[in-house]
This record gives sequence, structure tokens and C-alpha cells, in this order.
Amino acid sequence: MDAIKTNKFLNLLNELSAKEWIKFQKSWFVHNPPPRDKKKILHPAAFPETLAAEFVQFFTKKGQWVLDPMVGTGSTLLACLMTGRNGIGIELIPKWAEIAKQRLEEFRHQLSLFGDSTQQLVIIADARNVDQIDMPPIDYVLTSPPYWDMLRRKGFENQDRRQLNGLDTYYSDDPADLGNISDYERFLTELVNIYRKVGEKMKPKAYMTIIVKNVKKGSKVYPLAWDLALRLREFFELRDEKIWCQDNQKLAPYGLGRTWVSNTMHHYCLIFRKP
Ligand SMILES: C[S@@+](CC[C@H](N)C(=O)[O-])C[C@H]1O[C@@H](n2cnc3c(N)ncnc32)[C@H](O)[C@@H]1O
Repeated sequence: MDAIKTNKFLNLLNELSAKEWIKFQKSWFVHNPPPRDKKKILHPAAFPETLAAEFVQFFTKKGQWVLDPMVGTGSTLLACLMTGRNGIGIELIPKWAEIAKQRLEEFRHQLSLFGDSTQQLVIIADARNVDQIDMPPIDYVLTSPPYWDMLRRKGFENQDRRQLNGLDTYYSDDPADLGNISDYERFLTELVNIYRKVGEKMKPKAYMTIIVKNVKKGSKVYPLAWDLALRLREFFELRDEKIWCQDNQKLAPYGLGRTWVSNTMHHYCLIFRKP
């Protein structure tokens, strides 16, 4: 208790106060993303950099290296820039990688961070080859994969609204894009393989957070988050989860009067540690 009052404790992991540390330990949180900027909204599924910043600040100290093997529009790298961490983001699709680079540039400008000594690098590559990419030993991994091929499904979440606004509803037509693999088992195997290779880049005892959801197709639930957690236990220690709740989404009358279908408004932030 004294540590909380005096904030004197040996902190090997981050630069938070005792109070901030304990607050982050709660196993669920509500985070309603702020409106996405003009560039970020072009991407069909991004997590907020404000959320990424909280994870990066818990799992690293300033100047350490963070990796996101599927960086999309660069939220993890923006979080690194905002909090003084170095970052590497890998993205398959040049269009998203370019947006990530532009957003980083704009943020640097807005925050007048030109003298900042940290680096945030965007690499266009297939994450399946992450083991062949040169990088410093990684202190923390924060990432979110395609939620299987759900964006390809008609009527999935806000797809219709995006289509009306002329926005992309899926990542790409590239066969190397994991969001285009329709076989669930193959998708899981490829994804687990990527994280296994990512593990080779991590320092011993480094943490990895994967933000993911269970998914439904028709009336069948595919427990993607749980399957990933179970399979990755072969390579990492599973350190349980934080549940990200959103309470600003519209409720839909799925199955009304007939059957139980949830309005799923939570994601799992699965936390692993390299042994
Ligand atoms: C859920 S999104 C990540 C969004 C990101 N967190 C953000 O906030 O913008 C998944 C990303 O993985 C990328 N992706 C899919 N297959 C990939 C692969 N084989 N290698 C690298 N990136 C891939 C997609 O293009 C997409 O941008």
C-alpha cells in the first residue's frame, strides 16, 4: 500500500506510477474510439491509436522497440510516436502502408516532433516472411489480424454503410492477404505460424498483445480468439486477457423473437509472454 502512496517501487517494465499500473490491470475496459481521421477511415478495420498508446505505455519504457506485423494504417506506430517508443510496422498492402507513412508524417508535423530521436518504420512485406526481415530485438508486439475472411461477408457489421460511402469493405484481393483465406483451419495455421516467427524476433520475457474477436458465420460461432489463445500456448505463456468493450455501437435486432444472437461489442486483447 505504501508503494501506491509514495510511488516508490521497483518498476522493471514501464514508467507508470503505481496507481496507473493498478488501473491498467483491470481485466476489462471501455474505449470508444474517437472519430477516425480522413485517411484512417479508408481502411475497413483499424484499432484506435489512443487504445494502442495505453498498451504500449504499459508494456514498454521510452526508447524500446515495438513491432506490429500487420500494421494497416499505422495505429501502433502512431502510438509509438506519441509515447516516445521506436516501432516497426509490417503491412502487405502498399495502399495501407502508404497511409500509415502519411499519417506518421502528419502526426510528426502536428506534434512538432521533428527533433524526436525515435523511429517508426513502415515495411511493405508479407508477415509470413517476418523471420527474414532484419530488425532490432523486439520489446513488445501489439497487433490485430484480419478477423478471418469476415470482411468478405456481405452485410458484416457496417459493410453496407461503407459501400454506400464508396469506402473499401475488405483489405485487398491479394492471395497473400490472410483476410482472403476462406478455410478456417488454414487461416488459423497461417496466423499461428506468423506469430511463432514474430516470437523469434522478441526478447526473452517480452510481451505480445493480439486484439481479436470471436466470429460468427451464419449461425455458427468460430471462436477465433479462444482458438488462437490455445494454439499459441505452444510457443508463448498465455497471460490472460483484457476485454475491450465498446458501448457506442448501434444494437441490431438479430434473431428477434426467434433465437439468441449476441450484438458482439467486445474484443479480446490476448496477452502472451515469450518464455
Ligand atoms: C485488422 S487489420 C490491422 C489494422 C491496424 N491495427 C490499424 O489500426 O490500422 C489487419 C491488416 O493485416 C494486413 N495483412 C493481411 N495479410 C497480411 C500479410 N500476409 N502480411 C502483412 N499484412 C497482412 C491487412 O492488409 C490489414 O491491413
